[in-house]
Amino acid sequence: MPETPSTQPVQPKSFFLSPDLHTYILNHGGGPDQVQQALMAATQALGPVARMQIAPEQGVFMEWLAQVMGARRAIEVGTFTGYSALCLARGLGPQGRLLCLDVNEQWTRMAQTYWRKAGLADRITLRLGPAAATLAALPQEPGFDLGFIDADKENGRLYYEEVLARLRPGGVIILDNALWGGKVVEPHRHPEDASLQAICALNDGVVTDARVQPAFLPLGDGLLLLRKR
Ligand SMILES: C[S@@+](CC[C@H](N)C(=O)[O-])C[C@H]1O[C@@H](n2cnc3c(N)ncnc32)[C@H](O)[C@@H]1O
Repeated sequence: MPETPSTQPVQPKSFFLSPDLHTYILNHGGGPDQVQQALMAATQALGPVARMQIAPEQGVFMEWLAQVMGARRAIEVGTFTGYSALCLARGLGPQGRLLCLDVNEQWTRMAQTYWRKAGLADRITLRLGPAAATLAALPQEPGFDLGFIDADKENGRLYYEEVLARLRPGGVIILDNALWGGKVVEPHRHPEDASLQAICALNDGVVTDARVQPAFLPLGDGLLLLRKR
């Protein structure tokens, strides 16, 4: 658990969105373009697994963050059908390079199709295989400006350490699913949920990690942003 005193309860201003408000936000904050909409539709057609895709407003934010940071080199752990990678690669600009790690050939083949449609294929390199091994094989140098971690949650801490070791000072890691559908406030009720237990342990760990400065956004399923000091 964090050593800092827990925050006093105040009336929350962030909340889970109604469909109308969600549409309103997308219409006023750079919602998905035609390629992104087509990728969302194709992913939906895969069935319930589509819920792994990030929220479109999250994609807008991640593209924007990469731009305002002037990020040029980024790494993504967990690519699925490529939506988050598409957003990050756009934010990196034409000189940018994004390294994507995933184990699934079928989903990432789909991702590559849509990266090509978006004219981004030359900015993105895909490495297929267990992310732990791919990360361990990367040079131990601070080569990345931005990291996005969104793969198997049980290995989240390992991915965090491996990416942090390769992040430049001032660089940012984004941890996805930091709210895990709201269950993070009652992990004891779901002892069987290994992903939840791992997310809670990581959230608690990073908030007292002197190497990073955290900012928790209730966007999508919760984004924990960590700036490397
Ligand atoms: C939540 S999805 C990623 C969603 C993606 N960021 C998006 O916006 O659509 C998680 C991904 O992690 C991948 N994954 C699971 N275990 C992995 C592992 N050990 N190494 C690499 N990737 C893994 C899965 O194949 C899946 O595509």
